[in-house]
Amino acid sequence: MDKLPEKYLRDHSTPEDPVLEELYRETHIRFVNPNMSTGHSQGKLLEFISRMIKPEFILEIGTFTGYSAICLAKGLRPGGRLITIEINDEITEFAQSYFHKAGMENKILQMTGKAQDIIPRLDYKFDLVYIDGDKREYTEYFNLVIDKINNAGFIIADNVLWGGKIFDSDTKDPQTLGIIKFNEMIRCDTRIEKIILPLRDGLMLIRKC
Ligand SMILES: C[S@@+](CC[C@H](N)C(=O)[O-])C[C@H]1O[C@@H](n2cnc3c(N)ncnc32)[C@H](O)[C@@H]1O
Repeated sequence: MDKLPEKYLRDHSTPEDPVLEELYRETHIRFVNPNMSTGHSQGKLLEFISRMIKPEFILEIGTFTGYSAICLAKGLRPGGRLITIEINDEITEFAQSYFHKAGMENKILQMTGKAQDIIPRLDYKFDLVYIDGDKREYTEYFNLVIDKINNAGFIIADNVLWGGKIFDSDTKDPQTLGIIKFNEMIRCDTRIEKIILPLRDGLMLIRKC
């Protein structure tokens, strides 16, 4: 099978939530680099994982327009909170309007600024962390969050296959090098279990032992 039959997969999965469908469409009309947004299949997987874990506290690094935040927040246990950090303050209002439309405004707390400055000030123990910020900074994010995760808590990191560039020995751009360094660091870390899912651009699932 050369190519996965996308239509078949879509037709046999739960249809996209109308609010997320609108968010995805508006993101593509109004923002530069709309492909940064999580789409339907990956969003649904994030929602499933979150519903299985039933986290009390989730941390997301890299909100963009809020697609993955909404998906992950669907799995929060009652009274739980998702904290999402975004460095670009021009997106805050747009994302907030969709958290409201999704009925998530009381579950999602937006923080604007650099994740590396904000995370050390967070007084939470997270059950789930989603890393989806700057690819050059993944190792920094991991080192900052690992002690803020409960034992048996999880980290999910997006884009760990980086469009296949990680396999190209000639590629030297900083994002690719950042992902290669992160994947290698995760491979060598004995405090965690890990597996890469080849969905979309690659998701690294990590469990703190
Ligand atoms: C791939 S996008 C996130 C996509 C989002 N999770 C979604 O599903 O739509 C990455 C985002 O991380 C933000 N970002 C990059 N470096 C950051 C940092 N150091 N701290 C916080 N946000 C950062 C970028 O501005 C960008 O909006």
